Amino acid sequence: MAEQVAVDSKWLLQQFRKVFGSHLKDEVWISEAPGRVNLIGEHTDYSGGFVFPVAIGHNVAIVFRPRADRIVRLYSCDYRQMSEFCLDEIQTSGDAPWSNFFRGVAWVLSDCEPPKRGLDAVISGDVPIGAGLSSSAAFEVASAFALLVAAGTDPTILNSFDSECGLKVRREIALACQKAENLFVGVSCGIMDQMASCIGRAGHGIYLDCRSLRHEPVRLGFDDADMKIVVYDTGIRRGLVDSEYNRRRQEVETGTKMISGILGQSEVHSLRDVELAAFEAVREMLPPKVARRCEHVVREIERVKDAVAALRQGALLGFANLMWESHESLRDLYEVSCPELDLAVKIACETRGVLGARMTGAGFGGCTVNLVQNDALHDFICALPGSPLRPGAYEPRAFVIDVVDGARVSVL
Ligand code: GLA
Repeated sequence: MAEQVAVDSKWLLQQFRKVFGSHLKDEVWISEAPGRVNLIGEHTDYSGGFVFPVAIGHNVAIVFRPRADRIVRLYSCDYRQMSEFCLDEIQTSGDAPWSNFFRGVAWVLSDCEPPKRGLDAVISGDVPIGAGLSSSAAFEVASAFALLVAAGTDPTILNSFDSECGLKVRREIALACQKAENLFVGVSCGIMDQMASCIGRAGHGIYLDCRSLRHEPVRLGFDDADMKIVVYDTGIRRGLVDSEYNRRRQEVETGTKMISGILGQSEVHSLRDVELAAFEAVREMLPPKVARRCEHVVREIERVKDAVAALRQGALLGFANLMWESHESLRDLYEVSCPELDLAVKIACETRGVLGARMTGAGFGGCTVNLVQNDALHDFICALPGSPLRPGAYEPRAFVIDVVDGARVSVL
């Protein structure tokens, strides 16, 4: 089993001192934002549906020192590269594409009060990049926390999960980060990843309504049942995902328009508005591929509601069974799985003590998420392929994840 190595703040501070030098009187901060694993509710967020992600104990961390001017100097420890820009003229970088997530967030926040100030920062992370665990969202959220502190925002407000103020601020940050990714980086992601990184709670899944952004932490209770969440990274990285992702979005939009036309209901704005019975009545009138895509979304939204209800009743088996169904639907109807993901889910299905498994995230590679009894952990992890099944893939690895709180910022 792979070691879980969290970013070490002391090590990152040393890197900061090496790169930028620092006086003891300097106030140096760290902002940390977690990646996420979605337990159920895949490809539903951009249809205004429900999702059920958890924030995981793998972070992107930024050690930073606010500056008096509007210059931003970023050093990525993972890419070993510096990137610099001025807040008055924010453009995308072709040389350091990793910095575009930070630049995008700075660009979105530059319209907000208070006026932004620059900073010097070093960045590192232990969220595997491009593995479907939302390393980009984690970077965006950590960037927003850093920029807001540099601008003088009270860190106690940023760190709060208070329902009145703290959660409102976290929701605004998630929306700003999504806007940065959509408009600056150019990826039309939904809101799930940024929300999970902002509002995740230790030991809880986040039942999120992606239309209203109402959300509720639901206690998982897996530890009490001697179970763990295991993530298996197939080592397959995003290739065509972005274009396939956008194509799925278009197919779903086409389907939504057609369904709304057939039903003559102007109130159908997204598939969230289509009940299963209504969908079944119109399915035959849709082109087969569009029908498959829409069926996945309509049923997956129902599955999230059922899964959360099962969890609330302590029916863990019921919850886990919906994970298998979700995978089949993503494989056969939404067609976003790949052979490595399917094999990992098949192995999970054949291993005693694995209660549920499915692919998680956008798909076409990345990870599976598995609910596994403690006494089956060893057998399961040994049964999963340990070396790449196709050329060019990374080494696959499995790890047990912790479910943690969303982003935070503190003085070092
Ligand atoms: C990616 C996107 C999310 C969501 C998932 C699929 O992670 O960033 O918004 O659409 O894919 O559920």
